[in-house]
Amino acid sequence: MSKSSAGQTAPRIICISSGKGGVGKTSMAVNLAVALADQGKRVLLIDGDLGLANVDILLGLNTRHTLQETVEEGRDPADLLVEIVPGFSLLPASSGVPEMASLTYEEQAFLTEMLDQVIGGFDFVLVDTAAGIGDSVLWFNRWASENIVVLSPDPTALTDAYALIKVLASRYNRRRFHLVINSVASKKEGVAVFDNMSKVLGTFLKITPLLLGTVPLDRAVSNAIRTQKPFMLAQPDSRPSLAVASMASSLLPLAATP
Ligand SMILES: Nc1ncnc2c1ncn2[C@@H]1O[C@H](COP(=O)(O)OP(=O)(O)O)[C@@H](O)[C@H]1O
Ligand SMILES: [Mg+2]
Repeated sequence: MSKSSAGQTAPRIICISSGKGGVGKTSMAVNLAVALADQGKRVLLIDGDLGLANVDILLGLNTRHTLQETVEEGRDPADLLVEIVPGFSLLPASSGVPEMASLTYEEQAFLTEMLDQVIGGFDFVLVDTAAGIGDSVLWFNRWASENIVVLSPDPTALTDAYALIKVLASRYNRRRFHLVINSVASKKEGVAVFDNMSKVLGTFLKITPLLLGTVPLDRAVSNAIRTQKPFMLAQPDSRPSLAVASMASSLLPLAATP
């Protein structure tokens, strides 16, 4: 297992993306973070969505500084972390994560170095990205060692997820993808969507994805957005909470493997 210079175990970096927007990336990222922390892990969530202050809104936060300013002003990025619940901190970069394409090579290297410093003491680093295959999405996916792709049963979510996976496979030779099928009417529907996706990925890209979990379409998720409280905390016994807790359990062994 790799160790950082401080003697800490290197965190497992997991990027959460989707081809299509609005499929539940932010909901999954926030609640997976809560679930992993609940299971005793130290978790950092990085808000890598450049467009909207998604994670901030979900958690009812008001962030004053951004990663952008920190890069520019050379401040200590650890000061940016906000503890949400014990064991779960957020790097609320939402409206300010620099668009990688607009950064010089040196700035990108600085940002990577800074992120490496910030993630030091954590077991898991989750990155909530924007949708699609923009530069920052690809950058975060390449930075991560594990790639989660969220999709819904909507046929366009399927084709867009395929497009994202295809780019990550062809450009960065990624072969291992954890799929989350969100907003399903039943487990059966979720598994059918996964099987469909597996068939397509196997046929065209020779990729065998892993099913991380299926999450039901449920008001606990939309209520959580309205009340700005993660559903894992507000409704821990709801079906989405049980699904996310089970996904977190499947991710736990990753923290201990190189
Ligand atoms: N399993 C679900 N059940 C009900 N509503 C959901 C579910 N997953 C996501 N949503 C709703 O879909 C919308 C988009 O979710 P969000 O997590 O912001 O997606 P993304 O980050 O992919 O854009 C939110 O309004 C959320 O409440
Ligand atoms: Mg989002």
